Amino acid sequence: MSMAGLSTPINGALRRVPSWVVYLAGLIPLAWVVYLTFTGGIGVDPVKGIEHRLGKIALWFLVGGLAITPARRWLGLNLIRYRRAIGLLAFFYIALHLSAWAVLDMGMLWSQALADLVKRRYLLLGISAFILLIPLAATSNNASIRKLGRNWRRLHWLVYPAVMLGVVHYLLQMKVISTEGWLWLTAVLALLGLRLVPRSR
Ligand code: HEM
Repeated sequence: MSMAGLSTPINGALRRVPSWVVYLAGLIPLAWVVYLTFTGGIGVDPVKGIEHRLGKIALWFLVGGLAITPARRWLGLNLIRYRRAIGLLAFFYIALHLSAWAVLDMGMLWSQALADLVKRRYLLLGISAFILLIPLAATSNNASIRKLGRNWRRLHWLVYPAVMLGVVHYLLQMKVISTEGWLWLTAVLALLGLRLVPRSR
């Protein structure tokens, strides 16, 4: 069956899935991290283990959110209804990832956090990404969408630099960029590049 032929029944089945199911399912990775933490499966360095897993989960949601529009355009798969949930889940996990660093890693000590930001400059890229996403998360409610009108779309353009900053932050925190790292960068560049393909007619 062709992609378009397959996407029609999938879209039909999805129509019966309310978005709260997506929010709930989106908490499963968190439950998994909590489970690993309390069962000793998080690794020899639990703080690093928690921090890294939350970062990776955030990346999945962030890039997943970026795939929704191309999936509709090229695969006919309509997940637009879940885009807000995916975006908010991405923001939620980035906030947890940031909190894991600030609370568990830095012990909420400003001087230590500042020294760490100087030492590991790539953290600033992550923080910049987070800051760019704050207005998006804050205006994700229906009232803001209505009030902002076309400016809401303009504002959401910020998601593109935010994802780029996020993925570059991820690449730079590696000593040597892994194959997985290059694959994430390729995926992000491809998903951004697809936005530039002009519509025919
Ligand atoms: C869009 C936002 C962000 C994304 C997508 C992101 C993603 C990631 C990923 C995927 C990793 C590596 C995980 C792994 O190796 O499995 C990582 C590492 C890390 N991130 Fe982020 N991050 C973001 C923002 C932040 C922010 C705001 C902070 C706060 C300072 C932060 C602090 C860290 C730290 C401390 C590490 C570990 C670095 C190391 O071990 O040397 N990140 N991040």
